[in-house]
Amino acid sequence: MRHLLSTTDLTQDEALSILDTARELAQVADRPVKKLPTLRGRTVVNLFFEDSTRTRISFEAAAKRLSADVINFSAKGSSLSKGESLKDTALTLQAMGADAVVIRHGASGAAHRLATSGWIRGAVINAGDGTHEHPTQALLDAYTMRDHLRGNTGSLEGLNVVIVGDVLHSRVARSNVWLLDTLGANVTLVAPPTLLPVGVETWPCQINYDLDEAIVKADVVMMLRVQLERMNAAFFPSAREYSRRYGLDAQRMRTLPDHALVMHPGPMNRGMEIAADVADADRSVILDQVTNGVHVRMAVLYLLLGGQEA
Ligand code: NCD
Repeated sequence: MRHLLSTTDLTQDEALSILDTARELAQVADRPVKKLPTLRGRTVVNLFFEDSTRTRISFEAAAKRLSADVINFSAKGSSLSKGESLKDTALTLQAMGADAVVIRHGASGAAHRLATSGWIRGAVINAGDGTHEHPTQALLDAYTMRDHLRGNTGSLEGLNVVIVGDVLHSRVARSNVWLLDTLGANVTLVAPPTLLPVGVETWPCQINYDLDEAIVKADVVMMLRVQLERMNAAFFPSAREYSRRYGLDAQRMRTLPDHALVMHPGPMNRGMEIAADVADADRSVILDQVTNGVHVRMAVLYLLLGGQEA
C-alpha cells in the first residue's frame, strides 16, 4: 500500500492490518505522555480545500502523536483564493518536502489525481473527495464496531449494518459499503429513492425503503447527515417528513435489538436525521468514533510512512 485513496482497493488483509495496528497504537492514548518517536523528522501536510472539524484535527493529532511535523494548509487564507491550481499547490508542497499529504477536496477524484500526477512523491491519503470516498472514516467506523461488538479482535463476518439517509451525497456511505463488504458484514442502505445514487443496485449491499423494517435485526445503525449544502433541488417534501420516515428518534430506537449501536460520522443535524436524545443515548458511540479516528489515522500514517524503517 503506497497511498490510501479508496476502500475499494483494500484487501481484507490490508484492512485488518490497519485495524490491528490501530488497536496497538490506541494504547498510547492511555499513557500520560501520548507520544511515540516513530515518525520523527517526517512531514505530514493537511491539505484541506473543504471545511472540516473532526477529520482535520484527527489527522493532526494522529501525526503529532507519532512525532511527525504537521503543516496545516486550508483553502481559506491561502493562495487558492487567488486562483492557484491544485498542481501548483502540490508542487509547492513537494518542494517543501512533504512525506505524506492528507487531502480533502470538493471534487470527486481529487486524491487520485494527486496520487497519480507525479506532482508529489509522498503518500497521498484521501480525507474525503466530493461525494466519492472517505476511507479513514470507514476504517474508524469498522474499528468502532469491532471494538464494541467483537472484542476488538474478532471478525465482522455476519454483522448487520444499516446505513440510513443521504447516501447520494455521502462519501462515508460509499467507503463503508465496500469496506464492510470486504470484512464480511451485511450492509443495508435505507434512504428515500431520491437520495440513492444511480447504479446503487450494483453495490455489494441490500436496499430497503422502510427504516422500521430494516432496523429490527440491526447490530449497527449508522445515520448520515442530510447534506443540505450539496443539494440544489428538493430531494424530499419537508424536513419534518424526512425525520418522520428516515430519522432516528427515541421511539424508533427502542425497537432496536438491545446490543445494537447507534453511529453517526458527524457533524449531526440534531432533530433532523437523529433526535438529540438519541445522539446522547448510552448506545450511541458517536464520540467513540471520534476517539477511534485518531487511532486509525495513526495506523494509516504509520503503515504508509514505514514507521519501522524511519
Ligand atoms: C463527513 C464528511 O465530511 O464526509 N464528516 C466527517 O468526515 N466526519 C460526513 C458529513 O459531512 O456529513
